[in-house]
Amino acid sequence: MDKIVVIGGRRLEGQVTISGAKNAVLPIMAACLLAHGRFRIKRVPELRDVRTMSHLLRIIGARVDQEGHELRIDTTNCSFFEAPYELVKTMRASIYVLGPLVARYGYARVSLPGGCAWGPRPVDLHIKGLQKLGAEIGLERGYIVARAKKLKGTTITLDIPSVGATGNILMAAALAEGTTVIENAAREPEIASLAEFLNGMGAQIEGIGTDRLVIRGVQELQPADFETIPDRIEAGTFLVAGAITQGDVTVRQVVPDHLRSVLAKLTDAGAEVFEGPDWVRVKCDRRVKAVDVTTAVYPGFPTDMQAQWMALMCIAEGTSVIVDTIFADRFTHVAELRRLGADIRMDGNSAHVVGVPKLQGAPVMSTDLRASASLILAGLVAEGRTDVSRVYHIDRGYERIEEKLKGLGAEIWREQEPWPEAVVGVMPPDES
Ligand code: EPZ
Repeated sequence: MDKIVVIGGRRLEGQVTISGAKNAVLPIMAACLLAHGRFRIKRVPELRDVRTMSHLLRIIGARVDQEGHELRIDTTNCSFFEAPYELVKTMRASIYVLGPLVARYGYARVSLPGGCAWGPRPVDLHIKGLQKLGAEIGLERGYIVARAKKLKGTTITLDIPSVGATGNILMAAALAEGTTVIENAAREPEIASLAEFLNGMGAQIEGIGTDRLVIRGVQELQPADFETIPDRIEAGTFLVAGAITQGDVTVRQVVPDHLRSVLAKLTDAGAEVFEGPDWVRVKCDRRVKAVDVTTAVYPGFPTDMQAQWMALMCIAEGTSVIVDTIFADRFTHVAELRRLGADIRMDGNSAHVVGVPKLQGAPVMSTDLRASASLILAGLVAEGRTDVSRVYHIDRGYERIEEKLKGLGAEIWREQEPWPEAVVGVMPPDES
């Protein structure tokens, strides 16, 4: 296992180019299963999750090759319509193959995703939506087994504007007979991007970017090429890095409109924000002020930025309240931030953060993707050395984060993590 070591105290300055969006490219890769042939997807980040989805598509029978930031997928010989538990348990987004497989091949056997670091994440809305389209779905020994002769369009009103459920239903509806309307659909840019990709394959989707999607089913879809949208969460993370170090950071090749809620909060916190057509700059020459945040579905403040915002608030002037309304348990980073000297009190899904003037570097442990980012951000400003272990979490969603931060002036590197036995001597045989 690797760890990332940060020596705090450097102001970050300069420009960083943002990678393609993980949460956009994962459903797009699954959508390729809806048609036979060759696809070329550009601006694909080199991430663990992309490699996991590539592996899943290969299990299904597709050819997948990634050269740098270009992904080539050939779905001509797909023949095994299953997503095994061993793989799904490592990446919840594997569930995205369910809709395409049942729509294109009439059969899918996909493992239930199980929990994640911060609690249960059900897929009931995915299942209910596909059942409304006519799929027969049963749960057999931990697997979702879905069958359908031909899906039929209908109106589906989501209880929650779930990103994943919207994506799965959207992909299935593209090949259903007749028209499907998805009410209370997720409006995240990653779903809009999926819809654009599907339309490029010959689907007929209207209402893109709104909470009401109208999909006229077609007989067949064709392969298409596409370019992934920029990762708004990676961009937000680097802008917070600029603010927390009282630096001056510009993120390039982004869509400023995808960052509105984060930019508004950075401005409220006292940072100067400048923007152009495809870049945003954050300049901060003083300690930020405490600013409350409540996460919400897009275009509200993203839950995927909650942990990073908390790191910033740990050293803010004043007390802030951070509420996560999307994932009530997404606070595994709190205990680790406290190890760095943060003053945080939890009350249900609300964190009360009393800003402190200084954090002290210490060894901390990543528990999930965005928690890892939060700990690295805190390490950038903590006094002395911070060792963030289990960084395989961060490699899921950030492409070469330590190199990009080093390019902005951070003193940061990756090193091998000694295995526990090596640290505490030889473990007694019964505990080996
Ligand atoms: C996507 O997850 C993202 N992942 C998450 O990003 C992100 O945090 C989340 O959307 C919210 O924006 C990908 O896109 C791969 P949801 P998803 O379905 O689709 C409940 C990251 O860090 N729900 O919108 O799983 C659910 O429990 C990851 O990059 C149901 O109850 O999120 C949650 O409370 C983490 N039943 C709420 O809806 C369902 O069937 C929103 O979840 C589905 C969801």
